[in-house]
Amino acid sequence: RCRPQLSAAPPLPCRARAGLARMAENGLRDKVLSLDSMNPWVKRVEYAVRGPVLARAVELEEELRQGVKKPFTEVIKANIGDAHAMGQRPITFLRQVSALCLYPELLSEPLFPDDAKQRARRLLAVCGGQSVGAYTASPGIEIIRQDVARYIERRDGGIPANPDNIYLSTGASDAVMTMLKLLVSGEGRSRTGVMIPIPQYPLYSAGIAELNAVQVNYYLDEENCWALDVRELRRALRQARGHCQPRVLCIINPGNPTGQVQSRKCIEDVIKFAWEEQLFLMADEVYQDNVYAEGSEFHSFKKVLFEMGPTFSRVVELVSFHSISKGFMGECGLRGGYMEVVNLDPAVQQQLSKLVSVRLCPPVPGQVLLDVVMNPPKPGEPSYQSFIRVSRQLLPEGHPPTSPMGISPQIHQLPPAPAPFPSP
Ligand SMILES: Cc1ncc(COP(=O)(O)O)c(C=O)c1O
Repeated sequence: RCRPQLSAAPPLPCRARAGLARMAENGLRDKVLSLDSMNPWVKRVEYAVRGPVLARAVELEEELRQGVKKPFTEVIKANIGDAHAMGQRPITFLRQVSALCLYPELLSEPLFPDDAKQRARRLLAVCGGQSVGAYTASPGIEIIRQDVARYIERRDGGIPANPDNIYLSTGASDAVMTMLKLLVSGEGRSRTGVMIPIPQYPLYSAGIAELNAVQVNYYLDEENCWALDVRELRRALRQARGHCQPRVLCIINPGNPTGQVQSRKCIEDVIKFAWEEQLFLMADEVYQDNVYAEGSEFHSFKKVLFEMGPTFSRVVELVSFHSISKGFMGECGLRGGYMEVVNLDPAVQQQLSKLVSVRLCPPVPGQVLLDVVMNPPKPGEPSYQSFIRVSRQLLPEGHPPTSPMGISPQIHQLPPAPAPFPSP
């Protein structure tokens, strides 16, 4: 006998259901989810970072492990910056605080320094049930967002940062996708155009494809150390206006994979361009600590925007991204980061807060790690000396620390790129 169905859909007659069962047994029944029926935008996504070249590299590694003879003995993966996978050791203090938060029984261990314990206690005190296993607020733990705001203020020479405008994330990738989701709309010629640099980091083209937005390429100037030229932005914008509505300008500074660091003047020009053309600026600044060529300096978009005065600083809509994956820490597996929004329409910001709440919260170990990066040991604290020493060991020999925290980047720079990625 057929049992009554609980769903609102009318039940299939028993004979039809028996027919479907027979087709399934014979392997004839169509999948509900097939290549034809699936989301077509997902099919268009390409992500070279994890694509067929990487799959082949993994195969080659396996063959080498099995003793297959090749004209090489090692595979060096250059698909993504993954410092620990390339042999960088984790920074002790970051891991001490993380370990204490994950396993608070260690708080009674004399092995751990007092400043690591004090930080772990402070973070645990604001976790539900004093456990990093509890959900947190959706934009992230409040005191960590405050620490991020203070970090940004130190970095930007005192320009205020509001913790309410800071959203912690599962790495920068998650935050970039969240913002793109808010920005993409329209159909046909009114579809959102998103301007991205070429060469780019493929998160952008993949996100644009997934959301069925229009990718608008602007080309970096290879002859000029991959500099960004505003004339090229104008060209790309003019051309794109014929078939979509460009509303977003993505900047990667310092650049990946090109390694260029934008001058302050260039950033000003880009901000003026965004202001004139009414574009929303997305500044991917995940390599902000990895700047070490003579004469090169990182300027955040937020700082330059505010230094340009109220005509711009009250108007230009900006989001900037940072991450624990890069910098001197390279903790990409722990998945932490943040974005700061500036001049977002308050009604849209409510929508953003709603959107991030659907994911409940970013991983708490990533939030903890981010907090220690934003708030490293200070002079006079027990771990300060060793933290600075370990961070300096990550520098190419002879380079002084250059980051705002007095901490140094870890990746050797090959000329002429001033940031970690050499020119191809
Ligand atoms: C420019 C750029 N943005 C974002 C990301 C992703 O960073 P996360 O690991 O924080 O998601 C990367 C990773 O390599 C990157 O190079």
